[in-house]
Amino acid sequence: MSSSSSSTSNVIKEKQRLGWIEWFRGWFYVVYEMLFQRIMASHLQNPLPLPPLNDLTCIITGCTSGIGLETARQLAESGAHVVMAVRKTKAAHELIQKWQNEQSGMGLLLNVEVMEVDLLSLNSVVKFAEAWNARLGPLHVLINNAGIFSLGEPQRFSKDGYEEHMQVNHLAPALLSMLLIPSLIRGSPSRIVNVNSVMHYVGFVDTEDMNVVSGKRKFTSLVGYTSSKLAQVMFSSILQKRLPAEAGINVVCVSPGIVHTNVARDLPKIVQAGYNLIPYFIFSPQEGSRSTLFAATDPQVPEYCAMLKADEWPVCSFISNDCRPTNASEEAHNLATSNKVWEKTLNLIGLPADAAEKLLEGEEIQCRYGQSLE
Ligand SMILES: NC(=O)c1ccc[n+]([C@@H]2O[C@H](COP(=O)([O-])OP(=O)(O)OC[C@H]3O[C@@H](n4cnc5c(N)ncnc54)[C@H](OP(=O)(O)O)[C@@H]3O)[C@@H](O)[C@H]2O)c1
Repeated sequence: MSSSSSSTSNVIKEKQRLGWIEWFRGWFYVVYEMLFQRIMASHLQNPLPLPPLNDLTCIITGCTSGIGLETARQLAESGAHVVMAVRKTKAAHELIQKWQNEQSGMGLLLNVEVMEVDLLSLNSVVKFAEAWNARLGPLHVLINNAGIFSLGEPQRFSKDGYEEHMQVNHLAPALLSMLLIPSLIRGSPSRIVNVNSVMHYVGFVDTEDMNVVSGKRKFTSLVGYTSSKLAQVMFSSILQKRLPAEAGINVVCVSPGIVHTNVARDLPKIVQAGYNLIPYFIFSPQEGSRSTLFAATDPQVPEYCAMLKADEWPVCSFISNDCRPTNASEEAHNLATSNKVWEKTLNLIGLPADAAEKLLEGEEIQCRYGQSLE
């Protein structure tokens, strides 16, 4: 065989999108979850019973509405120290007051505080993480809950230059998780819980075009949302692999189900009306918070993560809306792409390629963002 024909045959064509079968299977999972989530989760109580959590410190992003609000409230009412990481700090303070008033008859003093973070600004994420790490206290659970799905909206970019779904749903939570590793080590055994979505099954990440600007794919908010959720699963899988068992930090992605929250606020009015017409199928925020609360508190979760790690499973743990482990999408198993997503993400969030290793060794790392903070 001539050298030119052998080099041609050795060229592996880069995957440009999901295959048809993967795509159909992905949509099947989405529709299945929508139609049968209530039956799948019929064994669960609502609210999910939680043990006393007085020894737990949790940071939860985006908890002034929806799933995050319910998660924060229930963790706080079970005794946890809850840090509401939000951009609307006034709304968060009002919520604490309301929850406290509801509890005052039972004499329970909630241990909740508010810290500001705007995930559309990576400077803001660095500032948040620096402020938290400076306390030198433990962090037991980081819940990356905040997210956006601006359905039907035009493509928008953050001040950092990244497509907004990718920034809010993946890049900013990835930066937060990385920068909080020192606090998570202090809180070990600890967990990073990423509120992901069944929609990642129809996602595809082009690591050369994370902003979807090359024209190879037409941008729609569905493309933005699903790619960001898949990117989060892929990044989490590599992070879980890079964290040695001794570090005691477990990374879990969860699907909350299809939940009636503000996430639908950008949906066309007709679709919002549809949401209101089918309450049977759609979870309330309290029902939608169960998988996150389970992933954050259940003692079986670290055991499950350890089992996947020992088996060198290519994907991190994924907990479904029924609080049972499930398999992430076929594309999420593509280890070569997950490694590229890891490298590309670290580059985009301004961290060195060996950031995880350095942080685990207790070394300081420089982030390109947050340098000019006063
Ligand atoms: N609802 C569903 O059916 C569903 C299904 C699958 C997955 N999820 C996921 O569940 C998570 C929670 O969503 P939700 O349904 O509860 O929707 P939601 O009610 O809209 O809550 C989203 C939260 O994220 C916050 N947020 C948005 N942009 C932010 C930013 N730049 N910086 C800081 N916080 C920001 C919002 O705060 P503001 O009020 O300040 O905007 C809000 O508190 C998201 O990750 C979503 O993708 C939801």
